[in-house]
Amino acid sequence: MRGLNRWKSLVVTALAAATFSGVAAASLPAEDTVKIGHYGSLTGSKATFGKSTDNGIKLAVEEINAKGGVTVNGKKLKVVLVSDDTEGKPEKAGTVVTKLITRDGVVTVLGEVASSVSLNGAPVCQDYGVPMITPSSTNPDVTKVGDMISRVCFIDPFQGFACAKFAKDDLKAGKVAVLFDQASAYSVGLKDEFNKAFKELGGQIVSEQVYSEGAKDFNAQLTRIRESSPEAIFIPGYYSDIANIALQARKLGMKMPLIGGDGWDSEELAKNAGAAIDGCFYSNHYAPDQPTEIIQTFVSKYSKEFGGTPDGLAALGYDAANLLFDAMGRAKSLSGADLAKAISSTKDFKGVTGTITINSQRDAVKPVVIVERKNNTWAYRATIEPKKK
Ligand code: PHE
Repeated sequence: MRGLNRWKSLVVTALAAATFSGVAAASLPAEDTVKIGHYGSLTGSKATFGKSTDNGIKLAVEEINAKGGVTVNGKKLKVVLVSDDTEGKPEKAGTVVTKLITRDGVVTVLGEVASSVSLNGAPVCQDYGVPMITPSSTNPDVTKVGDMISRVCFIDPFQGFACAKFAKDDLKAGKVAVLFDQASAYSVGLKDEFNKAFKELGGQIVSEQVYSEGAKDFNAQLTRIRESSPEAIFIPGYYSDIANIALQARKLGMKMPLIGGDGWDSEELAKNAGAAIDGCFYSNHYAPDQPTEIIQTFVSKYSKEFGGTPDGLAALGYDAANLLFDAMGRAKSLSGADLAKAISSTKDFKGVTGTITINSQRDAVKPVVIVERKNNTWAYRATIEPKKK
């Protein structure tokens, strides 16, 4: 039982800042409800990640409760959501997840967004035998923690390939520089996968530079990148750093497109970067302007409830919760083992972010979408389908 006692001793000091959803459901007798947890960055430098995910989950909870709840073994149970804040810090994940499981008694944990945070929360879920579904952590190691851990998003070997293919085939870039966050599991992993795929496609990585999350000055790295004359720069980081990087690159006279991964997905990026981000691209889980019915229905329901356009995190949070409710309906019981089995045997679940089948590694196999900044909006540009085995 790796780390279990360590985490148990932290329960007493766990954060008390939980928010409850489904207040009406919370006042019902315990046997008529089922509690699920969400751990996410509700505050901090990546706050839009946690808030959007939480909104997406809340919408799914409200919808299922409006239908009377989830059906478990023929009995309807109302869903109560308990959300707790990690501040986006990996070192907070263990405490928050332990508290959700031991104090709140949740039967499943949804979260986190950032891979480094999920990598710290997952071992706790595994040790307690409580299923965890990360809506959006793409680093392959997250689900390798054990059979309790699954995800509804694609993984970075595919996301890196998709960005490399787009840069090479669509943008016709032969020489690309890379700038990544050396302390982030997500950034390092995605950089490795991009480099590998880009070289395999015949491209050249002309410069590789590192930064640390929260840094303010990127001039040294950008100057070195400029000297290598790349046709594009791949920056697998989180939105909070990308605006500064883009602004400083443009100031140095660098006009090439910047390309990112899903970590760019926040309305904050364009707000802070302005025109510096025009003509740039990133890979994502969906694009709200795609004209399919399932996407447009979600977009309109979400904006009616929360205002604004739902980002990829909101869509993934919504999908993770709905997939969980579907699995609860198929599970023999709500025990961790039965529930984990039902989750990992999900096939062809129709989500907003695509049709989701959980594979034998408990990862989802889905297309990557590329969006482009133009006319002051992020517009759908391309879909890259998963490689056939
Ligand atoms: N994939 C990122 C990670 O694993 C998190 C992320 C997903 C961020 C989707 C934005 C949108 O760290």
